[in-house]
Amino acid sequence: MKNKLNKIKEEFYQVIEKARSEKELQDIELKFLSRKGLLSETLKGLKDLGQESKKEIGMLANSIKKELIGKFDNVKKVVKEKETEKLVGDLSLPGKEFPQGHLNPITLIQNELEDIFTSLGFMVEDGPELESDYYNFTSLNVPPLHPARDMQDTFYIDKKNDKGENKLLLRTQTSSVQVRALLKHGAPLKVVAPGRVFRNEATDARHEHTFYQFEGMMVGENINFSNLKKLLEIVGKKLFGENTKLRMRPKFYPFVEPGNNGEYTCFLCKGEGCKVCKGSGWLEIVGAGLVHPDVLRAGGIDPEKYSGLAFGFGLTRLAMLKYNINDVRLFNNGDIRFLEQF
Ligand code: PHE
Repeated sequence: MKNKLNKIKEEFYQVIEKARSEKELQDIELKFLSRKGLLSETLKGLKDLGQESKKEIGMLANSIKKELIGKFDNVKKVVKEKETEKLVGDLSLPGKEFPQGHLNPITLIQNELEDIFTSLGFMVEDGPELESDYYNFTSLNVPPLHPARDMQDTFYIDKKNDKGENKLLLRTQTSSVQVRALLKHGAPLKVVAPGRVFRNEATDARHEHTFYQFEGMMVGENINFSNLKKLLEIVGKKLFGENTKLRMRPKFYPFVEPGNNGEYTCFLCKGEGCKVCKGSGWLEIVGAGLVHPDVLRAGGIDPEKYSGLAFGFGLTRLAMLKYNINDVRLFNNGDIRFLEQF
């Protein structure tokens, strides 16, 4: 029996030294160390031995068993470590770098403006890019054939939308959300509507058929021009710094009365006059005015009771100014090297 035990031990050492995988280890465990393994089976013979040899062989068997289990556990640990190493690879090698995505500069500006306006209590509203003639023009005081349509060269669409409406177009301005928002929410209302707009432009460094605007509207009792001026002043300071001034010059837009252009101190030259502001010290940033009574009416609002202010930032223009981008076509050309700079 002694011999038998020693042979088992010898055989065990032969195979365990060669074991490389967890599967091989499992087989070894089963064959030698399990309840039905060689060791246990051999020890069943103990009961047929005399008292003295039972004690002697029992002790030997126990020490062999302990030794084999110890060896087995050690090898198992090493094999496991090697297998993980195979999966993880060499930890001392430099890692692979994954390219990181970037927010488009227009998205950055949009987020900034949304933060400013939501902090002032405005809600953010969406409108469709495929828009009806009515919301883009007619409801904004620009009926069919009105000369004001010439200001925005429009892509008209020769199809109906899923509601069966024809007279569709690609919206030329986010002002298309004004009447939609009034009909949806009523007054009083504070809303901004960022989004993509389209015009039939011959493209060059300053003109693009697809660009972004950021509309805003506030309707309530006694909303007046001072409110508009103060609001645009606050936004200008937040966008370009505390020393930014606002000046407002008259400009015709059919859906506001009076209408004007909001200009801010050029943030590049601080008003001294430079190439970007063409020597004037001012940057034209926002169209604005008091909401025309006809527009309020189209939105189901009584102009005797309520008045409103509206404004529209050129988001694309803002992004160009802020990030010093000299060609508007870069935004739409899909070149990742452009985006990686922001
Ligand atoms: N929608 C006008 C434009 O695209 C801007 C504007 C918005 C003017 C709101 C006045 C009020 O030029």
